[in-house]
Amino acid sequence: MLRYYFVIALFLISSKSLLAQTNNADLDIIPAPKSIKINSGTFLISRESTILYDSSEDLLIANLFHDYLKEVYFLDVPVAKNFAKEYAGVISFSSKNFTNSNPESYGLTVSNTQINVSGKGAGLFYGLQTLMQLCPLKKEATVKIQCAEISDEPRYKYRGLHLDVGRHIFPISFIKKYIDITAQYKLNTFHWHLTEDQGWRIEIKKYPKLTQIGAYRDQTLLGNNYDRVPQVYDNTPYGGFYTQEEVREIVAYATSKFVTVIPEIEMPGHSLGVLAAYPELGCGDKPGPYKVAQKWGVFDDVFCAGKEETFTFLQDVLTEVIALFPSQYIHIGGDECPKTKWKTCRFCQKRIRDHKLKNEHELQSYFIQRMEKFVNSKGRKIIGWDEILEGGLAPNATVMSWTGIEGGIAAAKQNHDAIMTPGNFVYFDHVQGRSDQEPLSIGGNTVLQEVYSYDPTPASLTPAQQTHIIGVQANVWTEYMQTPAKVEYMILPRALALAEIAWTALDRKDYKNFSEERLPYHLARLDSYNTLYRVPTALKISDTTYLGAKFTVPLSPSVTGSKIFYTLDGYTPGETEILYEKPIEITVPANDRRVLKTIVITPSGKRSAITTTNFVNADPLPASPSVVSENGLKYYLVPGLFKNAADVDTVKATEMGVTSAINLVKFKPRGRTFGLVYDGYLNLLEDGVYTFSTSSDDGSQLYIDDNLIVDNDSKHAVFQLTSSVNLLKGFHKLRIKYFQAGGSGELRVYMAEPGQSKHELPAGILFH
Ligand code: ACM
Ligand code: ZN
Repeated sequence: MLRYYFVIALFLISSKSLLAQTNNADLDIIPAPKSIKINSGTFLISRESTILYDSSEDLLIANLFHDYLKEVYFLDVPVAKNFAKEYAGVISFSSKNFTNSNPESYGLTVSNTQINVSGKGAGLFYGLQTLMQLCPLKKEATVKIQCAEISDEPRYKYRGLHLDVGRHIFPISFIKKYIDITAQYKLNTFHWHLTEDQGWRIEIKKYPKLTQIGAYRDQTLLGNNYDRVPQVYDNTPYGGFYTQEEVREIVAYATSKFVTVIPEIEMPGHSLGVLAAYPELGCGDKPGPYKVAQKWGVFDDVFCAGKEETFTFLQDVLTEVIALFPSQYIHIGGDECPKTKWKTCRFCQKRIRDHKLKNEHELQSYFIQRMEKFVNSKGRKIIGWDEILEGGLAPNATVMSWTGIEGGIAAAKQNHDAIMTPGNFVYFDHVQGRSDQEPLSIGGNTVLQEVYSYDPTPASLTPAQQTHIIGVQANVWTEYMQTPAKVEYMILPRALALAEIAWTALDRKDYKNFSEERLPYHLARLDSYNTLYRVPTALKISDTTYLGAKFTVPLSPSVTGSKIFYTLDGYTPGETEILYEKPIEITVPANDRRVLKTIVITPSGKRSAITTTNFVNADPLPASPSVVSENGLKYYLVPGLFKNAADVDTVKATEMGVTSAINLVKFKPRGRTFGLVYDGYLNLLEDGVYTFSTSSDDGSQLYIDDNLIVDNDSKHAVFQLTSSVNLLKGFHKLRIKYFQAGGSGELRVYMAEPGQSKHELPAGILFH
């Protein structure tokens, strides 16, 4: 009976989404606006139209629309002052009579005869962005716009995208493109991380060695930090910096797009770039010599907090930085500062005594507070990473919460503003899918849906405290991003999900509509604009197992206009394989399986990752006749470097035991690489379809009664894979195999009983 239930479920899903496709309630706008009412009819932009403006400020926006129509549609529409608003064929941009007090709000009405965009400054600019999104994908000579009334404003006032140029530097032309992407999706802050252990990137006139020495490293690590032992380097000098003139150019460019640039000058940690140039700023009597770092991580050599020269230097640097950046905020870092050197430095220890500080954490707080006082004296405010909470928060500081959300919560509870940038949800250096199908990255795993699911305002705060959560930002650390193309790939499409969580009211968020209706359209736009992005896998299918005999499998492309190719023979799909044209009929003989593999290929030739879906027609697995009564599973720890979990053999185990805890707490300290096998039985209380998942870094496999159910194998960063199996109640053999080949390491195993939601395997059902 259960088999047929699944066939039907798959069918229902498909017809529902087909309906949704025609019900384009958000007019493909990202981020979704606050309110939108679609009216019948269209407005036709043609050579006979006129673009009108009220003030000279409005003219800037009107001109942007003129240029856009000309560039994309080859339509040269005249721009004129507001003498003829009553005329048909008018597209007006006006700040006059606009009363919404939110400076970023706007109104946009499209009727058969007119388009009116209203707002002030940034608001009018965002109205323009929405109007440009309403223009059709097809680059034709007439531009049809759907009649609608839109009224819009952001949920948060701070909507940021960060870029680390310390690990890798990017050309000014790319920084501008990055700002363009930011502005198009109504993000308003570009956090420019300018100084690092691996390179100082901003010209400071008073300290020329910063860019003569501090901006260059002798060579760079190849691959991931954990890929090779010993590590291997490229033997190639690397570096560069931005002149003050270039910085001014970027700030002016960003300002014209209503994007604020916040510079970050790191202190007291992440400062080897400085120390290589000015070693006297390090700890001790004879500091250095230091080198600009050649690999990634956190380094013990940091600014000396005891020497006055450190503060003189940083104040001089910030004086030049403040002159270049008009932003209210200056970011002074504060993260990942080891206290090792401070503990044995006589200058630092004297500072602790003189100021009656309790320890080195309070010394860090002293450091930040002193710098804050200086920044405040220049009429600006500081932002720091959440470690600035250590030892006491500086009185006026805004906290950027990255190690989790707790820093932001703690700050808000102390009535400080906070910006949420937690790694789990918005670190765009994390991999976006199964890492063995993705380019080199730092690891982690933050898929599009996870970004979209994030609500930056913690529910645990009171409404008053919640007002201190001023916004959200995604961080883009570039250890593993050497090229602009790689940066584009890593931020897109995730930046579009970020835009929606930053801008769109909670009750307007809808992941299905976002990912299946609007995003494919936006990706098609990027496809035709020479911008790289990660092509999502085909819609309506995933790496999982369906049980049953007959299936009708609908697929939908993740990018409008792209094609899906598939195989049913186990081979890798590509242009040479079957083109998807209509729902795929799959009939699975008794006690057999079929494997569907799909790939999406966009009009410009970009390719998605490959999905693998199992269709299994098997009788439920009977319970084992064995009767086992000892609690827990046997485990076997097998030393060695493995490439696959499948290769881990218990015969070579050096440690065995019994446990009910399936995780790595006990095993991680045993070594950098190892294999692990759990063996035993599950005792199930009812017949039905059970779902199992493993989440692992690196690979894992889960077998039930010697059948491979979850095949999450191969070397990869954390990835969760789910699969189902039909089981009769009673004891079933369980075997879990895992290997760790470097990197963070994780193993979690989940199950869901028939019709229930998933949880980790409960100890009470594990036996051996
Ligand atoms: C950070 O990711 N170290 C702020
Ligand atoms: Zn010191």
